[in-house]
Amino acid sequence: MSVIEKMSSAALIELEDKYGAHNYHPLPVVLSRGEGVYVWDVEGKKYYDFLSAYSAVNQGHCHPRIVNALMEQAQTLTLTSRAFYNDKLGLYEEYLTKYFGFDKVLPMNTGAEAVETALKICRKWAYEVKGIAESQALIVVCEGNFHGRTTTIISFSNDENARKNFGPYTEGFIKIPYDSLEDLERVLQSSSNIAGFLVEPIQGEAGVYVPSEGYLAQAKALCEKYNVLFIADEVQTGIARTGKLLAVHHENVQPDVLILGKAISGGVYPVSAVLANNSVMNVIKPGQHGSTFGGNPLAAAVAMAALEVVRDEKLAENAERLGQLFRSELSKYVEQSNIVTLVRGKGLLNAIVINDTEESETAWNICMALRDNGLLAKPTHGNIIRFAPPLVMDQEQLLDCVRIITETLKQFER
Ligand SMILES: Cc1ncc(COP(=O)(O)O)c(C=O)c1O
Repeated sequence: MSVIEKMSSAALIELEDKYGAHNYHPLPVVLSRGEGVYVWDVEGKKYYDFLSAYSAVNQGHCHPRIVNALMEQAQTLTLTSRAFYNDKLGLYEEYLTKYFGFDKVLPMNTGAEAVETALKICRKWAYEVKGIAESQALIVVCEGNFHGRTTTIISFSNDENARKNFGPYTEGFIKIPYDSLEDLERVLQSSSNIAGFLVEPIQGEAGVYVPSEGYLAQAKALCEKYNVLFIADEVQTGIARTGKLLAVHHENVQPDVLILGKAISGGVYPVSAVLANNSVMNVIKPGQHGSTFGGNPLAAAVAMAALEVVRDEKLAENAERLGQLFRSELSKYVEQSNIVTLVRGKGLLNAIVINDTEESETAWNICMALRDNGLLAKPTHGNIIRFAPPLVMDQEQLLDCVRIITETLKQFER
């Protein structure tokens, strides 16, 4: 046994605390193995994973088909940079664009990078196609958004914790309330310099806010009316999570620009992508944007395998069916609960709202008790707990999780 395998959870937490930057506040559990919907801590205790690495592990932990694709490609060719062609990228680009119905893809690595890429494409399109005067382009975003951690992205966040003391901020963004078509139309009318509308089809980090029915379709129609790009950030909601391949598909919307990340690789490797049609994507010319790792053969092989799993194992259909069951089962509890005010979500992206203030410790304490009872979840904001298990879960496992969740919540009833 190696030294690391013998270390206790407490000792490993201490190491992170001492040598790692304190930029996260993890639940105190140290995981060393994962398979499907389960993870195990270093002491061997088994848990249901009800976060899926923020919806990256939709295909379940260590899916054999994805891991095999990784291992096979890792032994053949991992990185060439885009200075040369490689024998996987073209195949992946064809596969991905046909899978999602776009002309072209720009491959990147992380979600935030893909968002940055989409913003750059949108601005370039504004100047070179729409005809907006130099440096005047504006992009509309929503209050409560979460699109990542770069300096530009946090410039238009309204989470003070994410923004404070990271200025000066990038200009050129207008914030409007989420789920308000009135505000969207008002702002689109107010200026001819608007280039794009960047939106999460469901606001995940903010607390799984599902917009009103028709919001996405009508927002897309407004964008068409005002010749503005509709940019969907599906980094968290995409790849079957909400019960459809993309959350915008619930309203039959095809975005002008689609941003994907996380589950595009099943959580096995950092892969992200921006998809658009030629009229938009062709604004990008050699040398204007890129990434050393973006589009590498390892990422291409992994992502193709991960997307095949989504299709072959009908993960969207499973998420839709189990999501309905989860909300209906949990609603029965919520109706007679003092501690939970509501359950909301789509597919297997759900949340409960705890009947306490945002500053209270209750949601955190509930997550600690869930951990003790064998289920891992994390509060999003203060009093909201997100529930997002891997989509390979079966009905029996889901009902077992509902039992753990309700029995745990009962301990907190007043
Ligand atoms: C909607 C959305 N966009 C972008 C990101 C950023 O992705 P990453 O953490 O891979 O940079 C996230 C991460 O949670 C997200 O939820």
